Amino acid sequence: MSTQTHDRLLIIDFGSQVTQLIARRLRESNIYCEIHPFNKVTADSIREFAPKAVILSGGPASVTEPDSPRAPQELFEMGLPVFGICYGQQVMMEQLGGKVESGHHAEFGRAFVEPAGNHENDPIFAGLFENGPEEVWMSHGDRVTKMAPGFEIIGTSPNAPYAIIADAKRKFYATQFHPEVHHTPNGARLLKNFTDMAGFTGDWTMGAYKEQAIAEIREQVGDAKVICGLSGGVDSSVAAVLIHEAIGDQLTCVFVDTGLMRKGEADEVVAMFRDNYNIPLIHADESELFLGELDGQSDPETKRKIIGKLFIDVFEKHAKSVGGAKFLAQGTLYPDVIESVSFSGGPSVTIKSHHNVGGLPERMDMQLVEPLRELFKDEVRALGRELGLPDSFVGRHPFPGPGLAIRCPGEITRQKIDILREADAVYMDQIRKHGLYDEIWQAFVAILPVRTVGVMGDGRTYDFACALRAVTSVDGMTADYYPFSHEFLGETANRIINEVEGINRVTYDITSKPPGTIEWE
Ligand code: XMP
Repeated sequence: MSTQTHDRLLIIDFGSQVTQLIARRLRESNIYCEIHPFNKVTADSIREFAPKAVILSGGPASVTEPDSPRAPQELFEMGLPVFGICYGQQVMMEQLGGKVESGHHAEFGRAFVEPAGNHENDPIFAGLFENGPEEVWMSHGDRVTKMAPGFEIIGTSPNAPYAIIADAKRKFYATQFHPEVHHTPNGARLLKNFTDMAGFTGDWTMGAYKEQAIAEIREQVGDAKVICGLSGGVDSSVAAVLIHEAIGDQLTCVFVDTGLMRKGEADEVVAMFRDNYNIPLIHADESELFLGELDGQSDPETKRKIIGKLFIDVFEKHAKSVGGAKFLAQGTLYPDVIESVSFSGGPSVTIKSHHNVGGLPERMDMQLVEPLRELFKDEVRALGRELGLPDSFVGRHPFPGPGLAIRCPGEITRQKIDILREADAVYMDQIRKHGLYDEIWQAFVAILPVRTVGVMGDGRTYDFACALRAVTSVDGMTADYYPFSHEFLGETANRIINEVEGINRVTYDITSKPPGTIEWE
């Protein structure tokens, strides 16, 4: 989807773990930006993208090593404002005639930066240093030892004499620290000052996005038919309502009941879409198919692959049943789309194969409509509100396509899925009753592949153990466990053990992401 009517900023990714945060900080200032991996960026691709400014991200390489990544040299002659962060700063120095050395004392963590010389009142520092030095987050091994011609130091810290450097004439700025992370509290302001100076007006609003997305869906689809897989989650629901607004009843939604849904989920989704929105909806009960094929499977990737394939089979069947749909709509989000940078030249590591990413098998004769592929999760929620979806729906916790299957580590059996569904319902009821639902990004139960001994009344039990999971997060990329009170945990464990046959032990998962992931598989 093109967004030519917005001012655009290009982020060249050199592989930092936090590159996505640059995009997030900019979008909070209503600036449209895209992240492109350095090895896909050429002078021509920059011209084609037509950015108003460019940011060079951090990265794990060292510019002092042979064959380490660079920006296209021509970038610096295009008259575009450029901001280099950490490795991006070093790339700028190296390519513009400065010097970078390794082997110096590496610096990680908190530092304080002060304006140098009489640069305190430079526009890049508008609103900064009002209460003294600014806290910043450093993370680097190499450092600049000689600046490129035209640059001067405008900010320093005790261990980083080149903390902020600038060639104001060319609107080139570079920092040794990371302004994009939360640990640099006023970093977003620094980036905003840069984009203000580059002439951005902050024209990336949800209202504008909605109108443009609708026009683009109409153009892409013409008078063809579209089917949209509804999962009950926020993403596919927002995609469906948006597409319906664009093309009306050319859209048919397909809600596939995989037998891996939460308790009551299927009825809720059907009621919402068929009854409230009058969107044509097929309720495909495919639970026998899914549970049959998954029965006895225990490998996480095999489970995901089986589910992905079955979804495609079911969509294909229904594409035919609506009289030949040419398009399949999905709620794919931006974090799923961003290509990760791989320094080995090999493929980047697949942590989990999400079922809605990676295109469709060749044999499938449908094209994809993915109107959310430029958005982060919280932006999808904002778009949902813009489209008039009720808050209770927009604020729903994410629910993964493979559903309860990836919350049942070890062998999947119908019995375990049934027990899990019941335990999950009690847990969610507890969270709602205690008014915690909106404070939590996502919560669920995982049933563990172990049985443990317990005692109930006078009898011995030998039942499954389960784990409760609840995390806080902004976009699912990183997460912290939710700090429930002991009272809440105790009450919930009691309820689950008493109300759910088949579970006699409850644990609470306190792993953050990283190093864990949110789901168990
Ligand atoms: P992880 O477990 O990778 O999950 O930390 C991050 C977020 O993504 C959701 N998730 C999925 N969503 N299809 C989806 O639509 C999938 O295959 C899938 N796997 C994980 C997960 O629930 C969490 O919100």
